[in-house]
Amino acid sequence: MEYKIAVIKGDGIGPEIVTEAMKVLDKTGEKFGHTFIFTEVLAGGAAIDATGNCLPDKTVAICKASDSVLLGAVGGPKYDTQPPANRPEKALLGLREQLGLFANIRPAKMYKALADACPIKESIIGSGFDITVVRELTGDVYFGKKMRTEENGMVVGHDDMNYSVPEVVRIARRAFEMAMVRSKKVTSVDKANVLETSRVWRETVTKVAAEYPDVQLEHMYVDNAAMQLVRNPGQFDVMVTGNLFGDILSDEASMITGSIGMLPSASLGEANPGMYEPIHGSAPDIAGKSLANPIATILSCAMMLKYSFGLETESAAIEAAVEAALNSGARTADIAKAGEHVLSTSEMGSLICKQL
Ligand code: IPM
Ligand code: MG
Repeated sequence: MEYKIAVIKGDGIGPEIVTEAMKVLDKTGEKFGHTFIFTEVLAGGAAIDATGNCLPDKTVAICKASDSVLLGAVGGPKYDTQPPANRPEKALLGLREQLGLFANIRPAKMYKALADACPIKESIIGSGFDITVVRELTGDVYFGKKMRTEENGMVVGHDDMNYSVPEVVRIARRAFEMAMVRSKKVTSVDKANVLETSRVWRETVTKVAAEYPDVQLEHMYVDNAAMQLVRNPGQFDVMVTGNLFGDILSDEASMITGSIGMLPSASLGEANPGMYEPIHGSAPDIAGKSLANPIATILSCAMMLKYSFGLETESAAIEAAVEAALNSGARTADIAKAGEHVLSTSEMGSLICKQL
């Protein structure tokens, strides 16, 4: 089969890690008889440099016409002086909105080979954890009305937080469906003791749960969830939450695995193209030094094969190759212990290709 993939390498370490991910996709295609046709497009800082606009129309059009989108990372201090509407981050939000990517799937799983990197005591981690955060991605305070007013001579900033019932229904269904093929447990995270948005969220998730009688649903306030993640992460399986809480909790969940450099994500809508990207940022401090860990981006490609193309075997082969590389002792700087041999970004990519 042939698959068209729009590639946004982005800024900072983006080009280095995406190059390795493309290498792994090519190798997977070679092995299983698929062709991945890459079209590079610009978004974020690179697009601002080339066109003045963080998200050119051409980029959106090419992404829409592709089977899938692979993205490295966008942003960097160079763009801090851009007006809010043209910041690199705005390109990401614009892509999510224009491609209708309302469901962000962020798995946080601990690799046995990296257990030492985990910042939590072994007595708490026990046999490890495997959490999937399902974050709503096109609503909430991220997309609500923003404004500044002046009250009594003081500037006041406003961001409207809101969720409609249909928005909650569709993300809740995604979470329950995911739970059906895992351990049939969903934790819905909100702040229903304070926020009206959260009360609508909670009522709606509870109604949707009735469609999935085999799945156990629990509700948890976001402050408690943040605490429980470090107190006993093993209690969670699928965690569903809104855009803002999901942004925060998915960073926390990633950190307890030991390295944010390992974690992939998928952003999905009702149909293709989905967008696949590492959950970490553009790390301008290490850009261009071949120090970055390409694994999060490589694992994002594994998610792409599974969720966008239905290629389960191929996806599992990439995951197994990553695990085999780690088990063989392959480490980039972020996951190496003192004294361990450190691989460059491209050496890690090549090693994973070899394992394939
Ligand atoms: C993420 C990022 C983005 C977000 C930023 C870069 C806009 O933190 O994907 O988690 O807040 O969604
Ligand atoms: Mg974030």
